[in-house]
Amino acid sequence: MTDMLEIKNVACIGAGYVGGPTCSVMAKMCPNIKFRVVDLNAERIAAWNSDILPIYEPGLDEVVSSCRGKNLFFDTNVDDAIKNADLIFISVNTPTKDYGISKGLAADLKHVESCARAIARVTTSGHKVVVEKSTVPVRAAESLEIILQANKTEESSFQVLSNPEFLAEGTAVRDLLNPDRVLIGGKKESEEGLQAIAALESIYLQWVPKEKIITMRTWSSELSKLAANAFLAQRISSINAISALCESTGADVSEVSQAIGMDSRIGPKFLQASVGFGGSCFQKDILNLVYICETLNLGEVADYWRSVVTMNDHQKRRFTNRVVTAMFNTVADKKIALLGFAFKKDTGDTRESPAICVAKFLLEEGAKLQIYDPKVPGRVIEADLKSSPKWCNVTIHDDVYDAVNGCHGLVVCTEWDLFKSLDFLRIYETMLKPAFLFDGRKFLDHEKLDDIGFNVHTIGRPSRNGNKSPFNGFK
Ligand code: UDX
Ligand code: ADP
Repeated sequence: MTDMLEIKNVACIGAGYVGGPTCSVMAKMCPNIKFRVVDLNAERIAAWNSDILPIYEPGLDEVVSSCRGKNLFFDTNVDDAIKNADLIFISVNTPTKDYGISKGLAADLKHVESCARAIARVTTSGHKVVVEKSTVPVRAAESLEIILQANKTEESSFQVLSNPEFLAEGTAVRDLLNPDRVLIGGKKESEEGLQAIAALESIYLQWVPKEKIITMRTWSSELSKLAANAFLAQRISSINAISALCESTGADVSEVSQAIGMDSRIGPKFLQASVGFGGSCFQKDILNLVYICETLNLGEVADYWRSVVTMNDHQKRRFTNRVVTAMFNTVADKKIALLGFAFKKDTGDTRESPAICVAKFLLEEGAKLQIYDPKVPGRVIEADLKSSPKWCNVTIHDDVYDAVNGCHGLVVCTEWDLFKSLDFLRIYETMLKPAFLFDGRKFLDHEKLDDIGFNVHTIGRPSRNGNKSPFNGFK
């Protein structure tokens, strides 16, 4: 029988897209536990303590305001939070390395390591459960453990667990409240390991059914997270590959998606063809997987997964080529409204957003971009595009109708619901003719747009109104 470790105080290092929502929902579901979310970024913490949270996530405002100041706290005193915690989540960023050995492939673990060193330094006595929540390479927990063990005092002890987070942005609150599964990886072979697993499990059990909580070896848990993201991304690249075929043959990718998704072995989710996947996880995690395979001498396996990213890059380029080709092979000095900059709807996050690539390609071709997104702040768009030599050709708009005014073409990169209810007749009237519309998400009412007079192009289907432009084909 395993003794129960009682968890009363939880610290979360990293108040980002993962740490913030995760601890907010946990605080709501576990009123008897105190959650303290800490971050080195004082501006971010100030925002978590204000009325305007640092991230846009539907339903999160309500959750935070119901617990903040009661059992949910945000501050910058990392050491103090560690000192007082029984359990510590590490939720810091693990971007793809952009320097040195394995640049552009491996995950950069410098923030994770600095957390481990802070935990070891601050914990002079007592037992702490350290939970790796950030997505990390397989066996990262082992490195954490080595650092903790090498720096611990005689009075301190640690158990390291892997507990990857599967929330998707835009649906984070829903995903956290009702997860498909919770993975806990730990040392199941030892009494201390089982105790730590049970302690973390006791938090989730306050709202997650026991059968959805699965425990496993630490490395399996770490790999499962990478594999889940790789599988999801692979489905999108697969349907995007089919979309290219549809455009060349006259088939419609939505019909193909429906047909294959009705096979219960395949299922309907993640089969929406698009301008390409974005977000902070998919590309990073696949590249991380590729790196791991390469270091293990599994060249063919690495190539297999790398092709998922190659196809995604191809899709973004292909979509932009279509814009240029359809508009008589040149967009130089043409005004193009780019609608949607976030990597998906219901988030203000632009990390790896396909809109960034589309914007940069169009700027390279000499276009003048008028950008609108309902949730992405102008300063973020600026930061994403400022490196382009043609940044001076960008204007950012707070009003969608201002953004489209006087344009030659509309390029829709994010599937925001509000775009479906725009007054397209009004938009058409303010545009130059022929008025081009490129739907990178295949979600607008194309029949209606055709009737208004737009020259509509979308992913995964040839242009409906015939090849109005003599240069309609694209590769
Ligand atoms: C993903 C995983 O879903 C989540 O489990 C993990 O914890 C983090 O990474 P996220 O990146 O937030 O979540 O969003 P997701 O909904 O997976 O979408 C990723 C990208 O794929 C977006 O750009 C989205 O627009 C695109 N996508 C998704 C498609 O192009 N087609 C689809 O059918 C689904
Ligand atoms: P994710 O999407 O994985 O949550 P984010 O970049 O949104 O990633 O958030 C990670 C957060 O972790 C950032 O706010 C960053 O300031 C914080 N962070 C990184 N390293 C440390 C550290 N050593 N101590 C405290 N916070 C850190």
